Amino acid sequence: MTVRIAPSVLSADFRKLGQEIAMCDAGGADWIHVDVMDGRFVPSLSFGVKVIEAARRSSTKVIDVHLMVVEPENYFDDYVKAGADVLTIHAEAAPHLDRQIARIQSLGCKAGVALNPATPLSVIEEVAHMVDLVLIMSVNPGYGGQKFIEYSIDKIARTRLLLDQADSDAVLEVDGGISRDTIHRCWEAGADTFVAGNAIFGAANPQAEIEVLRGLCVE
Ligand code: DX5
Ligand code: ZN
Repeated sequence: MTVRIAPSVLSADFRKLGQEIAMCDAGGADWIHVDVMDGRFVPSLSFGVKVIEAARRSSTKVIDVHLMVVEPENYFDDYVKAGADVLTIHAEAAPHLDRQIARIQSLGCKAGVALNPATPLSVIEEVAHMVDLVLIMSVNPGYGGQKFIEYSIDKIARTRLLLDQADSDAVLEVDGGISRDTIHRCWEAGADTFVAGNAIFGAANPQAEIEVLRGLCVE
């Protein structure tokens, strides 16, 4: 089974963002995860189009953009132009999921749907066959470095089942509190793509940590 490790640049040292991203790229990161926060959907503000462009220029890997914003449709064109390969919107911020998934895909970009911890899986039941990625949030979005929410494991397992039943080969990504302590259980439950901020950028050797995390995704 494919395993992808996606460092979250939110935890990078912003004094040297380009170097930090290039370091992950050279260190075997599969995707680069970019967290866009608008201060409305989540309380904090992060960054926007300029940082996506910077990530695109600093890496040859998939640029995985996680939109924690209200009215995400206002950003699709600019962010695809800036170099996003995947745009993930939150179901809680997108009442017209069918339309928005199709719009992202029409721009030649992969479309993901993220679910907050308290959001039931059933909101994506009808669109499971058309999404390219499902992102299970294992913390309440807004900040890096939070504690993993244990009940996410069961939700990942049910998401795997839902995708299998829909005959979907969508990516199953998990985001929040992923570390040496939590990654194996998420993998066992059926996740294939693991976002990690603090665990990677907080490590003494971030490149080695990517491989440690990957190495834990085995029986
Ligand atoms: C949280 C963000 C995450 C965050 C993960 O709102 O979506 O991507 O950066 O950071 P860690 O791995 O430190 O929980
Ligand atoms: Zn994220």
